[in-house]
Amino acid sequence: MQKRREHSHIIFLALTTGRDEQKRIALPKMNPSKVVICGAGFLGKHISRALITPAFPGSPTHQVQLASRNPQKTNSVSKESPGILEPSQIDITNESSLVPAFSNASLVVSLVGIMHGTSADFDRIQWEGAENVAKAAARAGARLIHVSAIGADKQSQIPYNRTKALGEEAVREVYRGKLEKDVVILRPSVVFGPEDDFFNRFSRLARVLPFLPVFGGGTSRFQPVYVRDIARAVEIIARNDPSINAIVGGKIIECGGPDIFTYKEIMQLVLKYSGRRRPIISLPFWMGKLQGTVMEQLPINLLTVTRAQVEQLKSDNVVNLLTPQSRVDAAFFPFDALIEQYAVPDKKISLRSVHEILSTYLA
Ligand SMILES: NC(=O)c1ccc[n+]([C@@H]2O[C@H](COP(=O)([O-])OP(=O)(O)OC[C@H]3O[C@@H](n4cnc5c(N)ncnc54)[C@H](OP(=O)(O)O)[C@@H]3O)[C@@H](O)[C@H]2O)c1
Repeated sequence: MQKRREHSHIIFLALTTGRDEQKRIALPKMNPSKVVICGAGFLGKHISRALITPAFPGSPTHQVQLASRNPQKTNSVSKESPGILEPSQIDITNESSLVPAFSNASLVVSLVGIMHGTSADFDRIQWEGAENVAKAAARAGARLIHVSAIGADKQSQIPYNRTKALGEEAVREVYRGKLEKDVVILRPSVVFGPEDDFFNRFSRLARVLPFLPVFGGGTSRFQPVYVRDIARAVEIIARNDPSINAIVGGKIIECGGPDIFTYKEIMQLVLKYSGRRRPIISLPFWMGKLQGTVMEQLPINLLTVTRAQVEQLKSDNVVNLLTPQSRVDAAFFPFDALIEQYAVPDKKISLRSVHEILSTYLA
């Protein structure tokens, strides 16, 4: 592993203290460190914005390197700020494609994940691909934030959950030993925010269907988390502050918002905040599986659901319910504590609720 490069320079702040008098105060300031956003989709775009926007006066900002299979798709965000470098073309299934983008990076945020595909696709991307990202990041001397998901489970029959767990394990293996504190694993529940694929999808469905379906009574529970709170967490970790690294380094952070809702309650929220009235109709799981069998044969569209996704709906998707203290002591660090204590010094920041945010983009 190469030694991390650290540069510093002096910036001059001009302060006018009198009519003619101008003082120049020299402030030591680190050059912005380079953070690679590997997988520039929904989360990647919001995280990029958080990294180039000061979280509080004087907080570190970063140079962001977006890395994507299709750099042109990142145009909207990459033109937003000079802090975002020319996007780089990568494919995480090809480790050597990662080398130029990762060069001189201090942190890599590994975000690539898929929702559809064969079991082999999930292995290739969420397991082996995640391992490729970790190897290339470690070789570049970068720390790593690996984004997994609540429900990661090596024993699961669901390819998404199984390969999320295998990806986590592979990443940890790459950083095992001296480097293990250089990895943080984030496991979000369902993420909401402008451009999300969950609430927006059901809102679009409510537009075209006469009812909103839930499977098996819609009793499984979710803990929706605001995308900008996840972006805040990444920004906090990206500061490379030794006191923060000491508490989160090597840990898993399960990311959930302030409220837990059943699937059916989520459909009610979608209707409420998109201003529509539709009955919510419960369908048996077998009917969902039947729909999955048909939809898996067709190109992905608004009605696409896979059998694995229907199976996922049988389990809760909420943050590990250990007590906060045991979560700190064990492999976990609590997401709410990270945001509340570190987002802005001397100011308690609370996690944002769907009730504050959904109306801003679903209506
Ligand atoms: N959104 C949620 O509610 C949620 C919840 C829990 C966990 N997560 C996890 O969080 C991560 C980010 O989620 P997201 O919602 O931002 O997903 P997303 O919008 O689908 O972004 C994932 C990106 O991965 C890229 N990608 C796919 N295959 C690739 C490959 N072989 N090489 C390089 N890039 C590839 C895709 O971009 P191109 O097709 O342009 O390459 C896509 O933009 C994922 O790992 C996901 O599993 C998300």
